[in-house]
Amino acid sequence: DGYAADKLFNQGFSFTYDDVIFLPHYIDFPTDAVSLSTRLSRNITLSVPCVSSPMDTVTESYMASAMAAVGAIGIIHSNLTPSQQAQMVRSVKSRRVPVLSNPVVKSRDSRIFDEFDDGSVPCVLVTESGNADSKLMGYVTKADWFGLDDKEMKLVDYMRTTDSKMVVPWSYDLGQIDEQLKQVETDFVVLEKDGGVVDVVSKAEVDRVKGCPKIGKGTVGPDGKWMVGAAIGTRQSDKERLELLVKSGVNAVVLDSSQGNSIYQIEMIRHIKQTYPELDVIGGNVVTMNQAQNLIKAEVDGLRVGMGSGSICTTQEVCAVGRGQATAVYKVSTVASQNGIPVIADGGIKNSGHIVKALVLGASTVMMGNFLAGSTETPGVYESQNGCLIKKYRGMGSLEAMTKGSDQRYLGDTAKLKIAQGVVGMVADKGSILKILPYTMQAVKQGFQDLGAYSLLSAHDLLRSRTLRLEVRTGAAQAEGGVHGLVSYEKKAF
Ligand code: XMP
Repeated sequence: DGYAADKLFNQGFSFTYDDVIFLPHYIDFPTDAVSLSTRLSRNITLSVPCVSSPMDTVTESYMASAMAAVGAIGIIHSNLTPSQQAQMVRSVKSRRVPVLSNPVVKSRDSRIFDEFDDGSVPCVLVTESGNADSKLMGYVTKADWFGLDDKEMKLVDYMRTTDSKMVVPWSYDLGQIDEQLKQVETDFVVLEKDGGVVDVVSKAEVDRVKGCPKIGKGTVGPDGKWMVGAAIGTRQSDKERLELLVKSGVNAVVLDSSQGNSIYQIEMIRHIKQTYPELDVIGGNVVTMNQAQNLIKAEVDGLRVGMGSGSICTTQEVCAVGRGQATAVYKVSTVASQNGIPVIADGGIKNSGHIVKALVLGASTVMMGNFLAGSTETPGVYESQNGCLIKKYRGMGSLEAMTKGSDQRYLGDTAKLKIAQGVVGMVADKGSILKILPYTMQAVKQGFQDLGAYSLLSAHDLLRSRTLRLEVRTGAAQAEGGVHGLVSYEKKAF
């Protein structure tokens, strides 16, 4: 009944996730017995098979911290200066709790100017030097500076002194911070390391994070800190960027290119392997077996798969190259698995079913832009439209992003005329990924259970042994597989 994957994917069609459907198999274990633990790359293991995309509207330090906290990983984008990117890596590495915070540190002689008039900064910390890495002297809250008669007063003249209970070691976990918050009068505590300020954690944030379901164990590296990746290009200047990132403790780098099978990328992989043998390097993007083989020969530690499948991509229309994502993932995974190289299925994930398809077809992780865009942890500010909150999500090949510097991903060194390969759009507020991912992973586990697969490896075995069968869905079958025949309904997954 149905088709084996090798037969289905060898007929000259380029299939997307929606084109194909698995036939259910046999269940002999509960959903909770399904393990989704996996590898991002040769040496990095994750308990949750998700990666946030290196896009400037998706992954900066908050997103990467939250991804690591749930057992997944984030890749910091490179559309900023090398030192800014390295700072974001350090910020992830210095956190233990996935809270949103905005520590503002000033010197005793500073004054609070109009900059905080919008109320977005709840408190200002005063340190000896005015920088985060020096001794904490005191603090002022927004009530203090809003109530000031003389706005020219220096912080030292009205700051409150911190009592020792307000300062806790950076290594405190959420439970310990929560306990400490009960013992202080303020609604925040300050995290400290080596005598300097690391972060400010508010009670509201602790309550928010405590209310989220727990999934995998956090992604922690050998240094005991959260793991984080970063994107780089393949130019000479990227070698300097890389050096800074390595010094900041980055765990993996992603060579960010829409067509990764190039001499530039192969040379960069060799450079990284020679200079930083401990660092995992992920190559791509690729969509064919031949492209993958070239990067595997260059000893890449992971492959990123997808060309033109992303929700903001126009590469297939502009350049006439690419591949349906289901076919690309299956084909590349076939060669990658023979060489023990994990595959990241990048782009085109719209629902948990797509994640099941990507993982069962051979990927070890899925990389997501749109699925995470608009969440609390993404960069950017919410705007209001027709009563809904929305946030910007843009392709890194959009003119707007390229103007800021991301043209390397889409242009050759010599190209002078910028052509967009992506668009700029808005997405709805999705809430926190600390909630989205646990629910999504539960749905993915149910999909695995229906297929009789208790792990990624067992799913791959079932597929390659032709035990798992699939079929192509006609247009009508796809329509039937979605909600139909209702005048209106509310789509709520959890
Ligand atoms: P989703 O579907 O998750 O896709 O939004 C995210 C992935 O899309 C790729 N990407 C682009 N591709 N033009 C493209 O052709 C672009 O401007 C662009 N920006 C991102 C990238 O692989 C990302 O992870």
